[in-house]
Amino acid sequence: MDNNHQPHSAAFFGDYRDFWWNRDFLELLVKRWGAEDVRSVLDVGCGVGHWGRIVASVLPSAESIVGVDREEKWIEEATKRTADDSRFRYQRGDAMPLPFEDNSFDLVTCQTVLIHVEKPVEALREMLRVTKPGGIIVAAEPNNRAGTMVWGSTSSNDNTIEDTVKHVRFHQICERGKIALGLGDTSLGDLLPGLFVEAGGKDIQVYLSDKTSAIFPPYNGREQQTLLAHQRSMTENEMFMWGREESERYFLAGGGTAEEFQEMWSVVTASDGSFEKAIASGTYHTGGGAMMYVVSGRKSL
Ligand SMILES: C[S@@+](CC[C@H](N)C(=O)[O-])C[C@H]1O[C@@H](n2cnc3c(N)ncnc32)[C@H](O)[C@@H]1O
Repeated sequence: MDNNHQPHSAAFFGDYRDFWWNRDFLELLVKRWGAEDVRSVLDVGCGVGHWGRIVASVLPSAESIVGVDREEKWIEEATKRTADDSRFRYQRGDAMPLPFEDNSFDLVTCQTVLIHVEKPVEALREMLRVTKPGGIIVAAEPNNRAGTMVWGSTSSNDNTIEDTVKHVRFHQICERGKIALGLGDTSLGDLLPGLFVEAGGKDIQVYLSDKTSAIFPPYNGREQQTLLAHQRSMTENEMFMWGREESERYFLAGGGTAEEFQEMWSVVTASDGSFEKAIASGTYHTGGGAMMYVVSGRKSL
């Protein structure tokens, strides 16, 4: 595949990923997909296994869950995390081509992986190839651009219209740069149903996760503490969606200039200390809305 990629940093694998889905919503989807009898599952681009473990936990008949990822260190970590559950097995491999025979799995899935590949339709065709006839593929992929319009209490106080526009503009330039570099479309979710059709999927169903990543005082419980810690580390490490260096690379590849990047970076990372102050005084809050699509389709019999 592409040689242009850089491995995901550990920042992308925080346990906030455990809180992206409501369990009862996924159980409902299993019924809608007709996946109650699924025994074998493939999790493509499994990372350290967050998505595969969540999916397996709502599939009542799952006996074997294989995860595949191109990064050896995520395979090692995923293997460690499921050491006490013999249903899980992880191996290194690429999404294109997948290192499996045709018609191997009842359900083939991925989460936030197609947003990183240059040719998502080809990746979906590969997922269908290794799915058994009549089997199911499921992809959970976001529109991250929408996130630039979701505010926390510290952004809504003083943000000017110009700053908001800058935020959206910055994101879109980076997004275009990432696409131009062959590293995928960060907001691919909007296009996913059409890509499923193009790849040959049947019986397509399209939903949005009904979960937000809301943070509000007094931040009680593991979910609140995990989301808050993630938000804090994004601010402390001066992260937008990506770190400074990676963002600049995408921004320039998307047609932005170095001068504009300099000017916009402090706006988009909100590095004025207001977030830390609001946390310290226990007043920070956000509805934490996200636009995460979950699209499914079947392979023809
Ligand atoms: C954002 S992470 C998502 C991890 C996991 N699916 C989850 O939701 O927790 C994307 C993962 O896809 C993997 N990946 C990206 N492109 C890939 C490819 N072409 N083949 C295999 N793995 C890939 C990365 O190494 C990374 O672990």
